[in-house]
Amino acid sequence: MRASSQAQPNIALVKYWGKRDVAGNLPDTGSISVTLDSLWTRMHVAFDAAARNDVLLVNGVEAPAMLPRVKQCINDLCGPGRPSVVVRSDCNFPIAAGLASSASSFAALVVAVCAALDRKVSPLQMARVAGRASGSAARSLFGGFVELQVEGDAIVVDSIATPEAWSLIVTVAITETGAKKMPSGAAMQLGKNTSPFYKEWVARQPRDLDAAREAIAARDFGALAAVAESNCLKMHSVTWSSRPPIVYWNAATLCCLESVRRLQDRGVPAFFTIDAGPQVKVISEREAADETMAALRATPGVVDVMQSTLGSGARLLDTGWQ
Ligand code: DP6
Repeated sequence: MRASSQAQPNIALVKYWGKRDVAGNLPDTGSISVTLDSLWTRMHVAFDAAARNDVLLVNGVEAPAMLPRVKQCINDLCGPGRPSVVVRSDCNFPIAAGLASSASSFAALVVAVCAALDRKVSPLQMARVAGRASGSAARSLFGGFVELQVEGDAIVVDSIATPEAWSLIVTVAITETGAKKMPSGAAMQLGKNTSPFYKEWVARQPRDLDAAREAIAARDFGALAAVAESNCLKMHSVTWSSRPPIVYWNAATLCCLESVRRLQDRGVPAFFTIDAGPQVKVISEREAADETMAALRATPGVVDVMQSTLGSGARLLDTGWQ
């Protein structure tokens, strides 16, 4: 009745932004991401028939505000009449700040719950349950380069290249450690309902997915950089043009973009992407990792920089509950 798991966040190169169906949390668009390695969420789950209530601890502190989403995800897997559960989540990076902590959390949660209850569930099924809790979480079940497609009323997710197939480096510039301005789900709905660019964003997504998939297959860094930067700025054009507008960036976010441009002007293989927060993620070829790190560290307003190779999907840990 106990299990521990680990999942890493993933960074979308072709973004999910907008929902076809809010109740089922079904995305309006496919997406392509890379799963990280050294940023992680570790999830410890213990079912206890004698306990009266579910409990969630995040980094050692009770987190009642996040409990309903966690309960819902567990209920999705277990159905009614399950025993109470204690869930302990530990994370080695800032949560709710645009670093995809919900992705690694829900991916790790479904893996631990299935193991604790001895349920044999395929990775795709686990991805579907995690995706109902948080769309991007479905991708953290898989490692390396991961594509999520929406087929009818279900998602299909799989790895399209292993982490070893193309050893890119992701450098994350933290420009603010507080919670994000507006949770992504609410911002997506606002964009869908009010941005004049939303329909066009959805319509053009298949082209970006094709371009990114081809670039990954051919290990064509320039082509991947072009489509990922453009896709990111299109997503943010939807948020900027929502009413009221949502600007996730701060001054340091823009300074980071300038630093990336300067690297590119010197021929350094690096490109940026930004999610629903002010942090900037820079993807580079392995040989450019140190230069990218140094450039971001020297960028005004950057408070911390983290770096990761690409990693594997969510997995069980055999360390057990401690
Ligand atoms: C900008 O997966 O956090 O990171 O399904 O509402 O939980 P919910 O949204 P979430 O959105 C991720 C948005 C993004 C882009 C991406 O990861 O594809």
